[in-house]
Amino acid sequence: TYVIAQPCVDLKDKACIDECPVDCIYEGPRKMYINPDECVDCGACEPVCPVEAIFYEDAVPDEWAGYATADQEVFALADVSGGASAAGVMAADHPVVAAEAVKAA
Ligand code: F3S
Ligand code: F3S
Repeated sequence: TYVIAQPCVDLKDKACIDECPVDCIYEGPRKMYINPDECVDCGACEPVCPVEAIFYEDAVPDEWAGYATADQEVFALADVSGGASAAGVMAADHPVVAAEAVKAA
């Protein structure tokens, strides 16, 4: 499945959500998350992210290794599904996101 890595934190450009045919890119407080049970691996989101935050899970750069499994782990805990556009913002980010220093505006 595809995952969203560190460059999305505190940016959330959201160009990706307009491309996803299955509405599986959900919003957290500081980052967007791809639901691995709903993503059909179409890859349409990956090229449109202006900061290249989206990677296939096996291709996440080593410096952001924690992000390879963060999306999967968030959905394992939160059980958020059924369409991102109706889901609202999740209550909490994954710990790897929460631990990131807030980026300067
Ligand atoms: Fe984030 Fe890029 Fe989407 S910054 S919200 S992954 S377009
Ligand atoms: Fe959607 Fe991207 Fe998966 S467009 S189906 S989240 S690869």
